[in-house]
Amino acid sequence: MDAIDVIRTKRDGGQLSADQIRWVIDAYTRGVVPDEQVSALLMAVFFRGMARDELAVWTQAMIDSGERKDLSSLGRPTADKHSTGGVGDKTTLPLAPLVAACGVAVPQLSGRGLGHTGGTLDKLEAIPGWRADVHEEAYLAQLREVGAVICAAGNDLAPADKKLYALRDVTGTVESIPLIASSIMSKKIAEGADALVLDVKTGSGAFMKDPEASRELARTMVGLGEAAGVHTVALVTAMDRPLGRAAGNAVEVTESVEVLAGGGPADVVELTLALAREMLAGVGRGDVDPAEALRDGRAMDVWRRMVTAQGGDPDAPLPQPAERHVVTAPATGTLTRLDAYALGVAAWRLGAGRARKEDPVSAAAGVTWTAAVGEQVVAGQPLLELHTDDAARIPRALEALEGAVGVDTGEEPLPLLLDRITA
Ligand code: URA
Repeated sequence: MDAIDVIRTKRDGGQLSADQIRWVIDAYTRGVVPDEQVSALLMAVFFRGMARDELAVWTQAMIDSGERKDLSSLGRPTADKHSTGGVGDKTTLPLAPLVAACGVAVPQLSGRGLGHTGGTLDKLEAIPGWRADVHEEAYLAQLREVGAVICAAGNDLAPADKKLYALRDVTGTVESIPLIASSIMSKKIAEGADALVLDVKTGSGAFMKDPEASRELARTMVGLGEAAGVHTVALVTAMDRPLGRAAGNAVEVTESVEVLAGGGPADVVELTLALAREMLAGVGRGDVDPAEALRDGRAMDVWRRMVTAQGGDPDAPLPQPAERHVVTAPATGTLTRLDAYALGVAAWRLGAGRARKEDPVSAAAGVTWTAAVGEQVVAGQPLLELHTDDAARIPRALEALEGAVGVDTGEEPLPLLLDRITA
């Protein structure tokens, strides 16, 4: 095989053979083909795209660069969820224990946040003592005994993606639907769950801003999941405004615990239940009502056991910010704009997120708000509260919020659930 032939084939709009794909992914992962040649190939894919079969082979080759986990020894169905990332999107926290409380094991390998969207592991690390690293044996034991694990992915999970994603990041080839879909799905399929539910966000705070592009990404990912034998459904959901009433780390844990206690913001509850129903239906348990497990406290019990199993104290007070700053409503009327991207950037600048992978995050930093889009506000009422460990961060966060709030602007918010995509 010759990397130049592979590049030329794709550059000229041809279809790569299965052998070419397997060879180039394997050779790149092992360091035999250099970055400059794979950069050229990625750019050719960016412009030429990939056919359905070609992309399925590409994704399988990425999975085969590591290990696909076998969870059959659990003797219980398994289901997992992936969100393409949004602002205030804490649904994984209540969802994993909720689905586990309904008898389905949830193996959730998560990541950290980068940029304006938060990371699940960063949120959970706000809980004193909680550890993201769970070794293989403890992982299976926790899935068996508690039913849910949310932890960091090991190095054996689609290692080709680590190299390809880093290269895409510096070659302007991140925003390609086949490359995004294969990157996400190689990791999710390798996790070994029987069913997968994808939450594809759309709107200003999402990776994909446009609903049609989000649908296309959802269709591509559902096709890849099904091609790999994983029952896959996608919900396309709104991210023009943030989810719930909090964006940050500790503040999102607090809101998740409210949901598990049977309360919490209506949109978080609605989305969590919609995702839970899909996960349960995906493994043939569509007759189980997850709302019941929220009401009767079973989901909360699993949450407490899940946090404790990973060293966390579910009763410990969460970190509090050194500084708070209130932003008031600009007018009286209906809140029609609360821009997800702006709030995400503000939370990030307050210290809740990181600009580079190795940066630390603040557990206490974030933003909370007192009204959701569609609700009435009165001029001068407290609307946003900025939390930070460092008051010097507040002016830049306020800059991000300029124009983010609007009352009676005539804008129509997206419906929370825009679409459901199946194979
Ligand atoms: N998340 C991923 O894991 N990969 C992408 O390419 C984009 C988002």
